[in-house]
Amino acid sequence: MSHTSSIVMSGIRPTGFLHLGNYFGALRNYVRMQEEYTCYFMVADLHSLTTHPDTAALKGHVHRVLAENIACGLDPEKVALYCQSHVPETTELYLYLNMLAYKGELEKTTTFKDKARLQPDNINAGLLTYPVLQAADILLHRALLVPVGKDQEQHLEMARNFAQRFNHRYGEVFPEPRAFNYGEELVKVPSLDGTGKMSKSENQLATLYLADDDDLIRKKVMKAKTDQGPAEPNTPMPDYISNLFLLMRLVSAEDVVAHFETAYNGCSIRYGDMKKQLAEDMIRFIAPVREKAEAIRTDHAYLQQVMELGAEKARASARETMRLAREVMGLRYY
Ligand code: TRP
Repeated sequence: MSHTSSIVMSGIRPTGFLHLGNYFGALRNYVRMQEEYTCYFMVADLHSLTTHPDTAALKGHVHRVLAENIACGLDPEKVALYCQSHVPETTELYLYLNMLAYKGELEKTTTFKDKARLQPDNINAGLLTYPVLQAADILLHRALLVPVGKDQEQHLEMARNFAQRFNHRYGEVFPEPRAFNYGEELVKVPSLDGTGKMSKSENQLATLYLADDDDLIRKKVMKAKTDQGPAEPNTPMPDYISNLFLLMRLVSAEDVVAHFETAYNGCSIRYGDMKKQLAEDMIRFIAPVREKAEAIRTDHAYLQQVMELGAEKARASARETMRLAREVMGLRYY
């Protein structure tokens, strides 16, 4: 199965706005991977139905997520950038894999238990089989490399199990996919309030979105927690201060970072100045992406082209896999 050794596949949830953590944690790697691998990047609109059955906002979210990904450097010519629902082969494979997935293992999946707790009145079968649909997304392209964070490790392990069961029962079709992130630790982008990392669900004012306007960026950065500054030279930094430096290293010039480090170690740092500088460098980083994304998001003709091209590429790969799958399964009667 050597032709599959360089296939990358990942899914992006269409839940609105991308933030700086998404960019440095995931997207930046996708942009690098598109130069080196055959990549399938998919907007997981069907998955979103397991938790958001109301589809009124879906179209807007799909457009936004496509636009933001392209604005960050994903090239629809180089990768297959597509919507899950545009590739019906996904749901066919999902059905076959469902027969190989056990109720017990699905029920003890961490994400299922978490979501069931959050929506006790809608513990639907789709929610239970969410990892099966995700396995179908990946196996559909016989992808080996899946760039995802730690929270998806259990889903990947399940995908490997489903692949193995299928191969053993019917015949070798699927390689066993694994997490892939260029070896290094994933970059974690700290939130501005000094607690944890930037995320959609937690403190909105502590997360910088790629859609934030300049004033909002300034406001958020200036609100970041600081203190009086160190009283003695070379005092270890508290978390909320080292986080500011971490953010600064992502967007500011090296000599700017060095200047504030020296000031910190010499006890002459003025955090107000540091945050002003950080805010301006953030704006220099985010503003062009925001403007580009906005232009793409509102160009519906272009987005349609992107989705059609992506679906075409994804379906070509899916068709071939499903032909093989049906063949080994014996679903052929003439
Ligand atoms: N479950 C993933 C998440 O929550 C999204 C996803 C859907 C995905 N299908 C996938 C990720 C296939 C990797 C591969 O982020």
